[in-house]
Amino acid sequence: MTPDAAPAAPPVAAELVHRLYVLLKAASVYGRGNEGYRRHSEEAREVLRRAQAEEGDLRIEAREGRLFLNRRPIRFQSEASAAVRFLCEEMARRGVGVVEFAAGCAPDTLDAFAFAFQATRPRRGEGLDDLRARLRDAHASGVSVEEDVPAGEGAAAEEADAAALARRAFLRALTVVQDAMKRQRAGQPVELARARRAVHGLVDRVIADPQALFELGALRSFDAYTYAHCVNVSVYAVAIGARLGLDRARLAELGFGGLFHDLGKARLPIGLIDKPDEFDDADWRRMRRHPALGAKSLLGLKRDADRVLARAISMAFEHHLGADGSGYPRLKAPRRPDLFSRICAVADAFDALTSGRVYQKTPMGPDEALRRMALRAGSSFDAFLLRALIGAVGVFPIGTVLLLDDGELGVVWRNDPNDLLPRGSRSSPTRAAPGPPASSTSRRPTRRRAGRGARSRAWWTRSATG
Ligand SMILES: [Fe+2]
Ligand SMILES: [Fe+2]
Repeated sequence: MTPDAAPAAPPVAAELVHRLYVLLKAASVYGRGNEGYRRHSEEAREVLRRAQAEEGDLRIEAREGRLFLNRRPIRFQSEASAAVRFLCEEMARRGVGVVEFAAGCAPDTLDAFAFAFQATRPRRGEGLDDLRARLRDAHASGVSVEEDVPAGEGAAAEEADAAALARRAFLRALTVVQDAMKRQRAGQPVELARARRAVHGLVDRVIADPQALFELGALRSFDAYTYAHCVNVSVYAVAIGARLGLDRARLAELGFGGLFHDLGKARLPIGLIDKPDEFDDADWRRMRRHPALGAKSLLGLKRDADRVLARAISMAFEHHLGADGSGYPRLKAPRRPDLFSRICAVADAFDALTSGRVYQKTPMGPDEALRRMALRAGSSFDAFLLRALIGAVGVFPIGTVLLLDDGELGVVWRNDPNDLLPRGSRSSPTRAAPGPPASSTSRRPTRRRAGRGARSRAWWTRSATG
């Protein structure tokens, strides 16, 4: 997809750029206490608040004379060209490619940024470090800057096909989860800004082409399964949220919470997480501590109020609670979990069932997983959200093995959101289904089989999720 073909950033993005331009100009002329500066600052803060309400984190990228918000091109009226040129040139002189304002950052973050930016020595090789040091000195933790995006990457280089972009976003998120879990085990804090950037990448890809990410999830070829599970849950949760029509800021909250819903497992013995055998009662007692441990870990990450983190904390704590208040951790006064937690529970169970790597060691076909989940609709799972998941992944999700009406076997490798019947790859019944097909055909299946082994009923009654 070329940048011009990509969906544009909302109109508030152009307003924000204009306000930033005026504020930077004012900061170069006035002092912080000046009446004229304060007026410009108030106006800029108001636009920043509106933009954050729509988008959550705000990632402003300058590249090749153009500006992007959260990887979408910002469309301007012609009179804004001075602002665009100024920002692109001044950022480039300081070696800055990206400025990111975190959702819910303190109101005076804009002022700290404006004065630090103007005071920075505008020389390549020094500017970025100087600016970072000035932001640190000003305690402006809500804004971060990154260097120029290398050619071939970034929002202006969207020519790569959807599969490559999806894979890149998936792997980046995978690295973030892996790193976060390792840091947790070592007693070090998680890098929140990096995680947020990774989540934005996932949200972009889910909005653009969720099927490309579902395909990656279906491959299951990653060694570190626990990490891939967290990314898959994040992807499914965002896909469900998108079906519900949630705005981008909410999708980013969902994605972030999904990525860290199992962070508590990093505080359990690694031998338990990777145990190849079935869990015994003692294992289960320990494993059921991970929601509370995860919430506690997330609570300790940041002192100031943060909506994204608050959502993640409740998702970590509640994702094993049933829609009817069943499940764990046991609450003295059972209640219905938050909407985002119910979404996470559905996404979590679907990935846990189809992966066969979390608790139960044998995987289940995705269509069978949906059928089993449907049996628990209204109790363990929110029935409406389960329908949203089915709408997102398809009636026969990617990876389902189908027995077609002519007796041939097929594997679903692609779903069209406008046509719930899948595209599949066929093979003779006596041969294994091949990998990605050279050609595909839509076939109406008359029967279907779960392709990944039979399930243990006993397991299902014991734990529905991962
Ligand atoms: Fe979990
Ligand atoms: Fe999980």
